[in-house]
Amino acid sequence: MNLKDYEYYKDNHGVLYHGDCLELLKQMPDKSVDLVLTDPPYYKIVNEKWDNQWETEEDYYIWSEKWLKEAVRVLSQNGSFYVWNGIDRIVRYKQILDKLLIYKNLITVKTRKGFGTQKNWMFCREECLFYVKSEEYYFQPQYTKEKRAGNSDKFKSEFTRATNVWHDMRHCYKDSNKRKFHPTEKPVEMIGRILQASSNNYHTKKDLILDPFAGSGTTLRAAKDLGRKYIGVEIEERYCKIAADRLKQEVLF
Ligand SMILES: C[S@@+](CC[C@H](N)C(=O)[O-])C[C@H]1O[C@@H](n2cnc3c(N)ncnc32)[C@H](O)[C@@H]1O
Repeated sequence: MNLKDYEYYKDNHGVLYHGDCLELLKQMPDKSVDLVLTDPPYYKIVNEKWDNQWETEEDYYIWSEKWLKEAVRVLSQNGSFYVWNGIDRIVRYKQILDKLLIYKNLITVKTRKGFGTQKNWMFCREECLFYVKSEEYYFQPQYTKEKRAGNSDKFKSEFTRATNVWHDMRHCYKDSNKRKFHPTEKPVEMIGRILQASSNNYHTKKDLILDPFAGSGTTLRAAKDLGRKYIGVEIEERYCKIAADRLKQEVLF
């Protein structure tokens, strides 16, 4: 089968493939995408088939290394690479990626709801590693909605710059007014912040964003809204359908 056979949804901005990203990535040309931004399975955190595919944690890291290497191969020389995971798994991801790319940062996002047992501190964080392929990468500082204290410099923004700890993102919970399409759905605004920092939409060259674990299509939808191009891959048909429906909407509800 070639890439075309996996096409599930396509529009002027990009394509969503239905299939196993490891197989699909192998068919993509070297250095063909400008930004990889993805939220892979975490290993036995979510009670769904896609998060319980491996017998052992070690198997999960062996598999992770395979897709990470393929995703790095398809990343352009000036490209950036962002990958989400929980704090425990991100440590091993960093060890793998440190050998493949140039480490730039670790973003920590404070989530509103904590989880955990009575015998431990609650978890209320998500992590995102940021890497680049070379020092010739694009980066545009982002600003929060928080005003800077004592702002007297008219050349500086009146708002504070986004740091590597984000506490200003509203997460997608069932009881929030944000619709929940996927158990681990990321907020579009949060993905948008990364897209605006690390990709561009100059009309001469709209950057191509790759999300090999598209889920409900949050990265793809944010890319489309911000005038980037996208390639998504999702293994579960039900999530491909949700992602396609979101991509079709005029305005995202
Ligand atoms: C953590 S979720 C991503 C959720 C996404 N951030 C969102 O906002 O909806 C990971 C997704 O990867 C998909 N997945 C798991 N293994 C895959 C594989 N080998 N190839 C492609 N997709 C896969 C799962 O079905 C799941 O939807």
